[in-house]
Amino acid sequence: MAALRKERVMEMRVLITFFSQTGKTRMVAEAIREELGEIAELKELSDTEGLEGYDLAFIGFPIMAFGPAQPAREFLERHAAGRKVALFVTHAAPDDEPALQDWLENCRAAASGAQLAGFFHCQGELSQAVADALLASDNPDLRGFGERRSETLGQPDEDALRRARSFAREVIEGL
Ligand SMILES: Cc1cc2nc3c(=O)[nH]c(=O)nc-3n(C[C@H](O)[C@H](O)[C@H](O)COP(=O)(O)O)c2cc1C
Repeated sequence: MAALRKERVMEMRVLITFFSQTGKTRMVAEAIREELGEIAELKELSDTEGLEGYDLAFIGFPIMAFGPAQPAREFLERHAAGRKVALFVTHAAPDDEPALQDWLENCRAAASGAQLAGFFHCQGELSQAVADALLASDNPDLRGFGERRSETLGQPDEDALRRARSFAREVIEGL
């Protein structure tokens, strides 16, 4: 039984595609690739024309302005409907940020036409350039965000990447 299952998984075509402006979501994508090994193909979103021919696609992106980064939103709207996808998301907010659940929901909603096989999120370091822009804002909420950059340093850390690898395994096992 287990051998049959393994054979079926080995025959699957799995894509891991991601948008990453400062490299944090890329780290999660690479951890997922490491876990899945050769059944998975890793590509940047900008090199991904669509999801045809794949049995499953892991699609990763950062939260930008309280929802999916624009290139990811557009990709999901154009290509995700009817496809089996697992999303992975990074964000600067800590897990206890009250608004985070709404932003994550915005990410899920962007893939609402898809069959969602899994959803993962973790913190990713806020770049100095983004923090500087936020600190210069007139909006105190945005300035507050910039002031919390130090809490994001080193993310995603080893623990987050380990959780990402478990997530990848669970998605495959759950198919
Ligand atoms: C323009 C911009 C807007 C952002 N907006 C948010 C946000 O609304 N909430 C949040 O938690 N993080 C926000 N971030 C932080 C990123 O989501 C976070 O640092 C992420 O891990 C970066 O991923 P990347 O390195 O793959 O680009 C924003 C970053 C940028 C550049």
